[in-house]
Amino acid sequence: MYKSPLSRMLGGNGMLYAVIGFASCLVFIYMSFGDLWIGFHGRSTSSFVKRNGTQFIVDGRPFYFNGWNSYWMMDHCVDESRRPRIREMLQTGAKMGLTVCRTWAFNDGAYNALQISPGRFDERVFRALDYVVAEANRQGIRLILSLVNNLQAYGGKTQYVKWAREEGIALSSSNDSFFYDPSIRHYFKNYVKTVLTRKNTFTGIEYRDDPTIFAWELINEPRCSTDPSGDTLQDWIEEMSYFVKSIDPNHLVTVGLEGFYGPKNSKRLSFNPEYWAADLGSDFTRNSMISTIDFASVHIYPDHWSHIQNFEYNLRFVSKWMISHIEDGDKDLKKPIMFTEFGLSNEDLDFDPSQRERFYKVILDILHKSAKRNKSGAGTLVWQFVVEGMEDFNDKFGIVPWKRQSTYQLFTEQSCRLARIQGALPSQEKHFKKLCAQR
Ligand SMILES: *[C@@H]1O[C@H](CO)[C@@H](O)[C@H](O)[C@H]1NC(C)=O
Ligand SMILES: *[C@@H]1O[C@H](CO)[C@@H](O)[C@H](O)[C@H]1NC(C)=O
Ligand SMILES: *[C@@H]1O[C@H](CO)[C@@H](O)[C@H](O)[C@H]1NC(C)=O
Repeated sequence: MYKSPLSRMLGGNGMLYAVIGFASCLVFIYMSFGDLWIGFHGRSTSSFVKRNGTQFIVDGRPFYFNGWNSYWMMDHCVDESRRPRIREMLQTGAKMGLTVCRTWAFNDGAYNALQISPGRFDERVFRALDYVVAEANRQGIRLILSLVNNLQAYGGKTQYVKWAREEGIALSSSNDSFFYDPSIRHYFKNYVKTVLTRKNTFTGIEYRDDPTIFAWELINEPRCSTDPSGDTLQDWIEEMSYFVKSIDPNHLVTVGLEGFYGPKNSKRLSFNPEYWAADLGSDFTRNSMISTIDFASVHIYPDHWSHIQNFEYNLRFVSKWMISHIEDGDKDLKKPIMFTEFGLSNEDLDFDPSQRERFYKVILDILHKSAKRNKSGAGTLVWQFVVEGMEDFNDKFGIVPWKRQSTYQLFTEQSCRLARIQGALPSQEKHFKKLCAQR
């Protein structure tokens, strides 16, 4: 009988089939009583992701992953008629062997705001987030939840500054006051505490006790250009990561950095895409070194970051950028490195979808190599996946992954390659056998 490498790895003996048979029976019961799943929670993501040095650990084994971003999930879910789209996205992710999704757990003061004003929450929107977390658990997907935006979309630090000024606090007009001002730090902590202690209305589990959540991300793409020394952002990260840990010691915490090196980082400065990247008040190494930060994040947007619009040049940049950060993880930080966003815009001159595939492949290949060697490069999250009929939520980077066969295959092949190294998670073994058998 022909056996795929994966089925050889998984054993393929009678005992395993007995176990799988029993498991699928449970799955059948579970699916038949889908509506009664309160109390059945924790089927798929029943243990917290831990860290041992440069590796993530799930159920005692190293965990390298293939995943994606869909920032829009909570916002989209507020309208109940759209919830099937979230299920479709998570189901498809699981079908492709993806195990991690990153999404926004914030919407400050904008349309469908979760936080209407400091400390005032919209229960309708909180239920939408509850749904996202519960549905991710059902599909066996772990979530990275980001807690605020540096950018203006969905409120972000600009909204916090506006709130403070409305309350009569004297502030400069810079939205970096978000990082400096003690009242705003207090607003944010209050927000964080409310989210972390939220009891999910679908599962009854508090977010801080829910292993579906892989990690908390403090802020998406923090920049504090008004203090290029970096001290302000460093102080903010120290305070906020410590605060998260004091409420929720179960979950891992990351900053949300893009990965730029600061002006004093002489060893690494030349790896930045361009000179401006050193003047944003952040430094990848220093910020990620903080003891209450469990792993580091890196984004990859070569066409947006460089004036040199040469595709081959950009691909070389991507390799160097990833490898330098993986080295940082292995040697200096001794923490995992997660590539939490990477994208190629479709607005570039001469854009062609096959370019995107080459770009994705460079990234997935480097991660695969890292996994094979037990290195710190731990996972990749493509920016971004959407489902059909979501034009308003798409951007120049979004794709519907099942629309183009070669792209779909590229990602599923990555899931299988990683499974061949580390095995599939027990709850997913059956699916992976099927997914990877033909390959
Ligand atoms: C942690 O990693 C070290 C090597 O880096 C290894 O010796 C040890 O067994 C690991 N511990 C766990 C719990 O996996
Ligand atoms: C900061 O605030 C100004 C308005 O004061 C706005 O134009 C700008 O886009 C904001 N920047 C960010 C990153 O939010
Ligand atoms: C990676 O670690 C696993 C156990 O955690 C071990 O079985 C494997 O041999 C290691 N691979 C390499 C290339 O060191």
